[in-house]
Amino acid sequence: MEATYLPAPHHILRLAVSSLNDVFSTLKTYTGPESAKARSNAEFEIYTQTGFVPRSPLRRLPVSFDFWERALERAHKDISLGEDDTDAAVSKRVSSEKWRENIRKGPLLSIQSLVGDMRKLQRAHMVLAWLVQFYVHSIPPSSSKSAIVVPRTLAIPLVTVSKILGIAPILTYADTVLWNVAPKDPDYPISAENMTFQHLFSGTDDEEAFYTTSAAVELRGAEILQIIEEYHRLPNLTEVTTVAKIANDLRRVATIIAEISDIVQSVRAQCDPHVFYWAIRPWYKGADADGPDSPGWVYEGVENTKSLDLSGPSAGQTPVMHGLDIWLDIDHKLKQRRAPAPSEDNKRADHGFMERMRRYMPGTHQEYLRYVESSPRPIRDLARQVPALREPYNTAVAALKKMRDAHIRIACLYVVTMSKSTPASRKGCPMIAMMERMKKEESSSTKAPVRGTGGNELSTLLKAGRDATQRAMIN
Ligand code: HEM
Repeated sequence: MEATYLPAPHHILRLAVSSLNDVFSTLKTYTGPESAKARSNAEFEIYTQTGFVPRSPLRRLPVSFDFWERALERAHKDISLGEDDTDAAVSKRVSSEKWRENIRKGPLLSIQSLVGDMRKLQRAHMVLAWLVQFYVHSIPPSSSKSAIVVPRTLAIPLVTVSKILGIAPILTYADTVLWNVAPKDPDYPISAENMTFQHLFSGTDDEEAFYTTSAAVELRGAEILQIIEEYHRLPNLTEVTTVAKIANDLRRVATIIAEISDIVQSVRAQCDPHVFYWAIRPWYKGADADGPDSPGWVYEGVENTKSLDLSGPSAGQTPVMHGLDIWLDIDHKLKQRRAPAPSEDNKRADHGFMERMRRYMPGTHQEYLRYVESSPRPIRDLARQVPALREPYNTAVAALKKMRDAHIRIACLYVVTMSKSTPASRKGCPMIAMMERMKKEESSSTKAPVRGTGGNELSTLLKAGRDATQRAMIN
C-alpha cells in the first residue's frame, strides 16, 4: 500500500500561524483601549463567585428601624392577598386591615443614619418595598376608581432610599432575588446548593423555587461577568494567542448560556404554574399592571408621584442578561440595519422595555451596563473583522437565541396559559368555574393582550427579544 505522507506537526503549526498572520495583515489595527482604562468588576459591586448577588446580605436593620422590620415579620402572619377569596384568606381580612392601619399611624422614620452604608440602604429598600406590596395587595378589590394611596410612612423613606441607591422606589428583582437570598448554612458562602430566601409573599415552596431558579441563574452568570472583565483587560486584540482566548471564551459563554437555559426550564419541576399565576404573581403587580387607564398608585407626601417608576418586578431586570446582551451587541431597540428585517410584530413590540428595566436596577449595576456599553472594543465588530471569531461569536448568539426560545415557552406556560385558568378557590364550584371561563373567553375574544408584570404585551415583547438576538448573527 502506498504510504501517505502527512506534514510534520511543526509544519502544521507554521501553516496555521502563517494563515492567521495573513488574516491580521489584512485586519485594520484593532487594539482597543489600553488595558489601564479597563475597570474591575469589584468597582460595580460584582463578586467573583456570586456575580450581582452580595456575598453576605444584612439580615436586619438597626433597632431604630424595628417598626419596619416588625411590620414585615407580622405581614407574613397577619396578611392575605386581597383578591384571594378562599376561607383562609378571608379569615385574615380583619388582621390585614389592622396591619395596614398600624402602618398608616406609624412613625415617619428618617433614613439619615443609613446613609453611607450600602448594605443597610439595600436592606431598607428591600424591607420598605416588600411592605408596600403587602400593603397594596392585601386591600380587597373594590369597584372604586380612585388611586391606591401608599402611606407616607412607607412612601417617603422608600423614595429617599431609592434616590440614594439609584433604583426605582418599588419592589424590584434586586429585592425579590439579589438582596433576598441568604446562605442556608451561614457558615458557608451562598451557592446553588446553599441558599434560602428571607421573605416570601405566599409562603409556598413554589415561590421559593421561583427565586431559587433566578438566583441560580445569577450565580451561573457570574462566570460570564468575569469573561467580559477579562476581555476588556486584554492588552492587544490582534495577537494570535489573544484571538484564541477570545474564541475559547465565546464558546465558554455559549456553554454557560445553555446551562442557564436548563436552569430556567428547571423551574417547572418545583414551581407549579397555577400557584405561580394565582398565588404568587398577584403580589408583584406594580402601579401600571392593570393598563394605562387604571387609577394607579399615589405615594403620599412625595412630590411628582406620577413621574415615579412604579412597574412590578421582573426577571427582565436581571443585570446579568443585560450585560450579556450589551456585550454581544443584541439590538433590542432595532437601531441597526440587520437581517432578516424585523417582522410587523417585532416593530410593534415595546423596544424600550430592556432600557426601561435598567431603571429598576441598583445604580452601581446600571453604571456597569453603561461601562460595557461604552466599550471602545465591541466584540461583534471584532468578530466581523476576524474570521476566526465569527463561528464562536455566532455560537454564543445562537445559544442565547435558544435560551430565549425556551424562556418564551416558560413565560407562556406560566402566564399566558394560566391567564385562561380558574383560581383554586373557585374550582370547587362548577357554576363559578364556568362563569370564570366565559369571562376569560369573552375578554380574549376582544383580543386584550396578556401583559407581563411590567404591564407590557408579553408574547410580542419576548418574541421581539428573541428575533433581535437572532439578527446579531454574523453571516
Ligand atoms: C417561572 C419562570 C419565569 C416566568 C414565568 C417568566 C416570565 C417572564 C415574563 C412575563 C417576562 C416579560 C417581562 C415582564 O415581566 O413584563 C419575562 C422577561 C424576562 N425574563 Fe423571565 N420568567 C421566568 C423565569 C426567568 C428566569 C429564571 C430568568 C433569568 C434570570 C428570566 C429572565 C428574563 C429576562 C432577561 C426577561 C427580559 C426579556 C428577555 O430578555 O427576553 N426569566 N419573563
